[in-house]
Amino acid sequence: MPNSIVWFFSKRYIAGENLNDAVNLVKSLNEKGIYATIDVLGEAIKNKDEALHDKSKCLEVLEAIKINNLMANLSIKPTQMGLGLDKDFAFNQVSELVAKAVAMNNFLRIDMEDSPYTDLTIELFKRLKEKYSNVGIVIQSYLKRSSNDVVELNKLNANYRLCKGIYIEPAEIAFKDRQKVRDNFMKLLEEMFNAGSYVGIATHDEYLVKEAYRLIKEKNIPKDKFEFQMLLGVREDLRDKINNDGFKIRIYVPFGKQWYRYSIRRLQENPEIAGHIFKNIFRIK
Ligand code: FDA
Repeated sequence: MPNSIVWFFSKRYIAGENLNDAVNLVKSLNEKGIYATIDVLGEAIKNKDEALHDKSKCLEVLEAIKINNLMANLSIKPTQMGLGLDKDFAFNQVSELVAKAVAMNNFLRIDMEDSPYTDLTIELFKRLKEKYSNVGIVIQSYLKRSSNDVVELNKLNANYRLCKGIYIEPAEIAFKDRQKVRDNFMKLLEEMFNAGSYVGIATHDEYLVKEAYRLIKEKNIPKDKFEFQMLLGVREDLRDKINNDGFKIRIYVPFGKQWYRYSIRRLQENPEIAGHIFKNIFRIK
């Protein structure tokens, strides 16, 4: 698909190409009382030099958060830090970022990628957790293994982001039925709350937001044990409702030159939007 069309569509999902764009966007969210997690776009790195380059960009983000006093933390993709090349190298890279986050009294979230990396990512998280507390992991409710992973991770008092999962996974390992993915989401959320863990409830699905509200009320979960999370540019009406209801909400703010791949994923997720755009562009009635 031509870059210009993808860019036209993706503007709303991405802060811009430069760190300054992300800083300005986060400032505008913070003014509304909304938190952010900043992501340097990129995942398919080819060698360690690229991974080193992306890590230095992440260090710049942490520095910018400090200088600008932003209500924001950092999210990273483990393969972007070299997990697919050399797990010890990736561990050292992410350790450096977490150490910097700790020194700033901040936090680093390790995103979860597709299933070839699930074990490696959990292992990376566990190694980091031996040394640092300011680091969190992501659990995907479409994966059948997630319930077992949560049992293990609860023993470490893990800080979670819970989401449905965005990659296309085989039916042997992932639920395909929409309601099953939702039911598992709620089951996992309850298990996390029961263990006293902190959870970032990452969804734009109104059904899940309502169910989470119900569970929080029913279990009397204190406000310092959860937050809601959404992607930039998606369901801003729901974002504002959650914020107005007095719940903490954090927006995932991606920026950087590698916007094409990220945008294509958003587009695959919501082809309806692509349809509207094409209609506008080509004036198809
Ligand atoms: P669902 O897909 O049912 O969406 C609910 C509604 O939201 C839709 O009906 C539509 O109105 C709107 N919507 C959803 N996507 C949209 C889009 N692209 N454009 C416009 N509207 C849209 N996944 C993963 O595998 N690893 C990870 O680390 C993360 N990290 C992450 C962080 C945060 C903060 C969020 C919110 C999400 C993720 N995800 C993720 C993605 C997640 O797994 C999931 O794919 C998406 O959030 C979509 O699922 P929903 O729960 O929003 O429901």
